[in-house]
Formats: sequence, C-alpha cells, structure tokens
Amino acid sequence: MMQSVILARRPDGNPVEKDFAIVNGEIPEVPKGSFLTRNDFISLDAGFRNWMNADSGDNILPAMELDKPVMSLVLAQVIESRHPDYDTGDRLMARFAWQTHSLSDGTDFIARLPEELEFDPSTYMGILGDTGMSAYFGMTEIGKPKANECVLISGAGGAVGSIAGQIAKLSGSRVVGIVGSVQKANWICKTLGYDAAVDHSNDLELAENIKTACPNGVDLFFDNVGGKTLEAAISNMNHGGRLTLCGAISGYGVTAHGPKNLFEICTKELSIQGFMTHLRHDRYEVARNKLASWLRAGTIKSPEYRLEGIENVGKAFSDLYAGRNFGKTIVAL
Ligand SMILES: NC(=O)c1ccc[n+]([C@@H]2O[C@H](COP(=O)([O-])OP(=O)(O)OC[C@H]3O[C@@H](n4cnc5c(N)ncnc54)[C@H](OP(=O)(O)O)[C@@H]3O)[C@@H](O)[C@H]2O)c1
Repeated sequence: MMQSVILARRPDGNPVEKDFAIVNGEIPEVPKGSFLTRNDFISLDAGFRNWMNADSGDNILPAMELDKPVMSLVLAQVIESRHPDYDTGDRLMARFAWQTHSLSDGTDFIARLPEELEFDPSTYMGILGDTGMSAYFGMTEIGKPKANECVLISGAGGAVGSIAGQIAKLSGSRVVGIVGSVQKANWICKTLGYDAAVDHSNDLELAENIKTACPNGVDLFFDNVGGKTLEAAISNMNHGGRLTLCGAISGYGVTAHGPKNLFEICTKELSIQGFMTHLRHDRYEVARNKLASWLRAGTIKSPEYRLEGIENVGKAFSDLYAGRNFGKTIVAL
C-alpha cells in the first residue's frame, strides 16, 4: 500500500496539523521510462509553505493543489526501474511528495547520494542535505566570516541556523544566534557553541536585545527569518557590514513585514546578497564532502528533531513553524 499526505486545506498563516490528511492507495505500476522509489525519510523544509497558497507557483514549483500530495524533499531508494539512468538500489535526495513511494520519470529535481552511505541516512537530509548545504554555501562562499568579526544568525537553532552557526565559529568569529525561547537560547550556546543568544519572543525589544548581545555591532548577518528580525539586525549593522539572505520564514504565507530602515543600507554602505542552494546543484558533492569531513572529525554536530511515521509528517511541519524543532526536522517512514 502507498500512503500520501495531502493538502486538506490551505494553511491560514502558520501551518497546523489539520491542514493535512493521509490517504491510502495502490502502489503504482512502473511505465517504461519511469522508476519507483521507497521513501525512507521526509525532510520538512520551511520554504515549501510558499507553494501552499492558491496564488503561488513559480519557476521552481507550481502552487500545490488541494487534496493532492504535499511537495517536499525526500530521501528515496529506487526499488523498481524502467528508466535508463536509474537502477534499483540507487539512493536519491529528490523533490518528491510526502508519500511512502514515488513514481518519477526523472524530470523532478534529483540529487544522487553516494552508493555507500557513511553516516546515518537521515544525515543526508540534514547537514549533508539541502539545509546543511545552504549553511555551507551561505557562510563559506557568501558571508565569509573572519576572526574578530561579530556574526549574527537568525533561526539560529533550526536546520540551516544550527549548521551556519557552527561553520561561522570555525572562522574564529564571535557568533550570536536569534531564537524563539530561553530553552533554545541555552541549547544553542551549550550544544552548538554559540557565544550568545537573543530571544526574539519580544519583538519590540529585539533591536535593543541584539545590541546588548553584540555590543561592538554586527559585521555579518545571516538571515533565515526576514521582516522585523531583518529590520532589527540592520539597525545593529556596522559600517560596511554584510547581509547574507538565506530565507525569510516570518513572511511565508502571510503578508511580510517590510523593513522600514532600508536607507541604513546606504548610510552604512552595507552589502546584501541572497542565494538559492538548489542552483548550486553542480557543486553539491564538493559541499557534501567538506561537511562530511567536519562531521567525521567531530568538528560539527548534526542535531535532529525526528518524528516517526507518515502520520506525523503534518505535525512535524507544524512544529517547525512553531519553533518546536531543535535542529533539522525530519520524519522517518
Ligand atoms: N536559500 C535557500 O536555498 C534555502 C534553502 C533551505 C532553507 N532556506 C531557508 O532557511 C530558513 C530555515 O529553514 P529550515 O527549513 O531550516 O527551518 P528551521 O530553521 O529548521 O525552522 C524554522 C525556524 O524558524 C523560526 N521561526 C519560525 N517562524 C518564525 C517567525 N515568524 N519569526 C522568527 N522566527 C521564526 C523557528 O525557530 P525559533 O524557535 O528560533 O523561533 C523555527 O524553528 C528558511 O527561511 C528557509 O526558507 C533557504
């Protein structure tokens, strides 16, 4: 039997469990030119919320349809193939739906994994997957922190932020994280090695609280949140500072708050660069090898918020938006 999680209704703001439902069906026949996978892990990624609105859809994905399986990233293994480029046993990280099995003609976004997996398979969805590579490309190729700089990271305890902070620490910088609770603030300092943390649950005092945690100002801001968080960070940037924009979760599926202080980008001569990890597909292996070397050496930890069973996929996604995840959110099927 094949199980799918469908979009039962369009989320209103942050997603909740009731937005999703499970349906059962037959495992499909494999037509010529296609292959079938068994999906072992489903990765929950904040950005997919953007395609749950009726008027969404872009060059990456069309808007998700009601009563159809929800799109995501999965760790899949080919179990039957009638496709010339895919063999039974191939392991893939692919943009497939929240399903126990997927049928593909190979035109989906697919990244191959090594034949032999050195680490726990779920690792290839986290630190060695899209979110770990986002931290890697964003920090090492764009932000490029230096010793004696102050690096501020939002969403600091999430999948991207937990790795971005540890990579920034390798440069010798002082690294400060913005998170949504005191418990997460303690965790990022004790477990991930952040030097200080700022709790964003009081939006009104966020800029002041950043100032206290970064008394010499911020040289590099790595942003996963956008909106009011970005505004508060801009007001704490040092002259000539850099902003690396990885994401803007505070504005997904809701009307985004536009920073009111963009003129400070002129007065402080700030540089801003955004990036999309999937456009660096040709360099995934380089990134994965470097991240794997840090993981192997114990230089970097790979924290995971893991739930079990397809019935928990909707809950896991809702938990991510509610900030209940510490590290990468993943469901083992
Ligand atoms: N550019 C790329 O190619 C790329 C690729 C992957 C991901 N991303 C981006 O990276 C970011 C992180 O994604 P992820 O999948 O790794 O999720 P995540 O960081 O594991 O989880 C999201 C975290 O964001 C925080 N958050 C949620 N709503 C918030 C709000 N309104 N204001 C402030 N913080 C909020 C929560 O933590 P707290 O407890 O701290 O509030 C939550 O745990 C997203 O913006 C995503 O779009 C970009």
